[in-house]
Amino acid sequence: MNLLKVQEIYDSPLIDSEINLGGWVRAFRANKFIELNDGSTIKNIQCVINEGIIDEDIIKRISVGCSLIITGILVNSIGKGQNFEINVSKIKLLGESDPEKYPIQPKKHSFEFLREQAHLRIRTSTFSSVMRIRSKLAFSIHDYFNKNGFNYIHTPIITSSDAEGAGEMFKVTTLGKDDLEKKDIDYSDDFFGKKTSLTVSGQLEAETYALGLGNVYTFGPTFRAENSNTSRHASEFWMIEPEMAFYDLNDNMDLAESFVKYILKYILKNCEEDLKFLEERLLKEESQKPKNERSDLSLIDKIKFTVNNEFTRVSYTEAFEILKKSNYNKKKKFKFLLDNWGSDLQSEHERFLVEKHFKSPVIIYDYPSKIKAFYMRLNDDDKTVRAMDVLFPGIGEIIGGSQREERLDVLKKRMSEMGIEEEELWWYLDLRKYGTVPHSGFGLGFERMVMFCTGMSNIRDVIPYPRTPKNASF
Ligand code: 4AD
Ligand code: MG
Repeated sequence: MNLLKVQEIYDSPLIDSEINLGGWVRAFRANKFIELNDGSTIKNIQCVINEGIIDEDIIKRISVGCSLIITGILVNSIGKGQNFEINVSKIKLLGESDPEKYPIQPKKHSFEFLREQAHLRIRTSTFSSVMRIRSKLAFSIHDYFNKNGFNYIHTPIITSSDAEGAGEMFKVTTLGKDDLEKKDIDYSDDFFGKKTSLTVSGQLEAETYALGLGNVYTFGPTFRAENSNTSRHASEFWMIEPEMAFYDLNDNMDLAESFVKYILKYILKNCEEDLKFLEERLLKEESQKPKNERSDLSLIDKIKFTVNNEFTRVSYTEAFEILKKSNYNKKKKFKFLLDNWGSDLQSEHERFLVEKHFKSPVIIYDYPSKIKAFYMRLNDDDKTVRAMDVLFPGIGEIIGGSQREERLDVLKKRMSEMGIEEEELWWYLDLRKYGTVPHSGFGLGFERMVMFCTGMSNIRDVIPYPRTPKNASF
């Protein structure tokens, strides 16, 4: 069809040349001015229908949401609001819309309403900006690892191992109702001949590859059946999990910080217009809030601040002391009051540390072993493990990771304490039997990073078709 993209026109406008464009009508005024958008940029292009050029019957059928191929000459615009426009000579109406019924009108719609129209919401400015940033972010992640000598590996989506602990996996089965209702389900008759689920993390398999390829990463979908209906949890989300041989926890934290800064810089450089649009949107939204609830920094400044400042690193014990002594704890402003060392930090605590106390991204490390997974390396104090969580303003935990336990005897002991059977993970233990080395890794929640970069406050609005408890439409 040899169509130009609107972005290409803005990149190098060839005034007086004939252009073919395909797109969807965002607005149509006075039977004359079409605002056309083709998704290549936040910007529309104005197409002007001068009298007598286009069949009246076609003009009557043009409305918001219809799809057109437009031919015309690019000219300098005399009107306000744009430098150039298209003088239309031909219109091919591909798909009509229905001005009465088309759900996406040129006005503000609530995000709740748009979630019910998730198949059409990509035709709004906000969602197209978010999804373009999401795409660029994915690219920048591969770019970072590729430039730094990491191999991209595809870990399985269907798995028979439970990496993170029981109770939050989606079962994969072809067994019928009768078989599943039995008290002791016999999985030997099931499709894979054993109990299988959708993966919650590619980490354990990634570890096996790190101990052969050196530095690897996964970037794939993960699934969690936890019934947590929050704005930051999805049942299906994407995770990036690098795993590095010969890395201790400090190397791991350094990598996490450098990685995150790289991808944020990439977004600042390559998504300027979308960021500006989303920043404006957010400013308008924030202006409705009471003053004390507004954030100090605008969207772009917040990203710049993260790129330009060192992340604060504190141990769990230090963080716990800060929280315990804080006025928030003393005045019972936290929903979960902190009393005893060893309790898990809730997102209200994480956000206090990041937004109120340090006012910067924070990495908390050396967590109590009791609240962390079996594979994290035990410290000499026998109480804490070499874990780390990266916490971001407005988001809370964005990365979780650790140095892995590479000592066979210690790992076996931890597994037995946590009731994990050795037979299940014989291959994971093999890594510690044959050529074990210190190694580390972490997982970045992709959607949480998209939320941070776009200022969207609900995870349902940064993934095309969100899956959450009781919701798997589309
Ligand atoms: O902290 P998590 O559970 O860590 C792991 O899965 C490790 N295996 C990672 C590793 O060391 N290779 O999850 C990692 C990140 C979290 O910090 C969070 O950003 C995101 O994944 N995440 C979720 N994002 C959306 N919805 C959910 N339900 C999420 N659960 C975790
Ligand atoms: Mg975690």
